[in-house]
Parts: sequence; structure tokens; C-alpha cells
Amino acid sequence: MFITFEGIEGCGKTTQISLLAAELSRQGLACFTTREPGGTAIGEAIRGIFLHCANDDMLPVTELLLVTAARAQHVERVIKPRLRSGTIVLCDRYIDATVAYQGYAAGLGRDMVMSSHELFVGTLMPDLTLLLDCPVAIGLARSRERNRASGKDVDEGRFEERDYAFHEQVRAGYLDQARLEPARFEIIPAEGTPGDIHRHVAGSVLRRLQGDAHAV
Ligand code: TMP
Repeated sequence: MFITFEGIEGCGKTTQISLLAAELSRQGLACFTTREPGGTAIGEAIRGIFLHCANDDMLPVTELLLVTAARAQHVERVIKPRLRSGTIVLCDRYIDATVAYQGYAAGLGRDMVMSSHELFVGTLMPDLTLLLDCPVAIGLARSRERNRASGKDVDEGRFEERDYAFHEQVRAGYLDQARLEPARFEIIPAEGTPGDIHRHVAGSVLRRLQGDAHAV
């Protein structure tokens, strides 16, 4: 099963992935956690270029080509082999992030993003996408607080620096995607405590896994 986590900056997806990974391991299920852009040595190098604040002059189409290149490498070298061996793959962002950020907020449009995915990455889509949804003001406040507390490399914060309207468009892009593909998406309200959100996330995932087991 291929599960992706999506949402605006500060939605809490990274915390939720590690809580879910721990829960699945407790239940004896093999799972593997990865992220985009990144997940391979080449992908992580692309991530450095993609997110570096010094590269804020980057065109949206350059962004699309970089994340698509990283994704092609990630899917063939990491994700597909793990799925073939029966491992549950948990991925921090995937194609829906490109639709929301480059397609909606940066203005390239959904069709261009989906066409390059089909052309260069292929047909692999998540079985389940958990969209952690919260208002932009809450997400941005959380991500600024987290960066301040952890001393996160500020060089990686190119998108966090964008204005409020950009993040509103990202959120709207995600919600539109969820409306277009209701069977794949689960919208999880992400304003509560990490524990409450985790119970919702784990419930959704375990229900899907049980559904799959019945279908076999
Ligand atoms: P994160 O791993 O901390 O969520 O940061 C990744 C950043 O990259 C985030 O600001 C969203 C952005 N991004 C895109 O703009 N397009 C993409 O396709 C992906 C995967 C991420």
C-alpha cells in the first residue's frame, strides 16, 4: 500500500508520519518512510537546489522539472521496489504537492503537472492520500515556531517565505484535488493536538488495510 501525506506548511504531516510508522511497526506491519523532494541521494541533492532561499528566482517550470526528475528517480529506485516486496510506503508529499504548489499557486495549471507526471514518472498513484487540512494562519504560525525552536536550516525555507495568498492557493489546490478524487483522499482536520490527529490518521489507515485484506 502506497500512502502519501499532504498539506500546507505547518500542517503537522511529518509528526503524523512518524507516529503512524511507529503504530504500524507495533502491529507487526513492515513500513518504510520517505519524502519528496528527496528519498534518494540524487533527489536529496535536487531538494537542496529546489528549496534553497538563494534560488528564489526559479521559474515555476524549472520547479516542475526538478521535482519531476527527483520523483522519477524516487519511484523507480525506492518506492516501486518496496511496494513489490509488500512493504507499506509512507511518503511525505508526492504528486498532489506539485499540483497544489506548481499547478495552482505558481500558476502552471493541473494539466501541465499531470501530463509531465504521466510522461516522466508513469502511472503510480497513491492508494491513499491523507490531506492534513488547517487554516493558513495556523499552519504558518506553527512552521515558524518549529523553525525557531529547532533551528531548522533557514536555507530550506523558500516556500515558507511566500505570502499568505500563495499559501491560500496551495490549500485551495489541495482541497480541489480531494474533491476530484474522493476515493483516494481522506481530509483530516489538523488543528487539534498531535494525539487526536494521530487517532484519526491511524483509524483511516487501519480501515483501508482491513478493507484490502478482505478484498484479497
Ligand atoms: P517539506 O518537506 O518540509 O514539506 O518541504 C517541502 C517544500 O517543497 C514545501 O514547501 C512544499 C514544496 N514542494 C513543492 O513546491 N512541490 C513539490 O512537488 C513538492 C514535493 C514539494
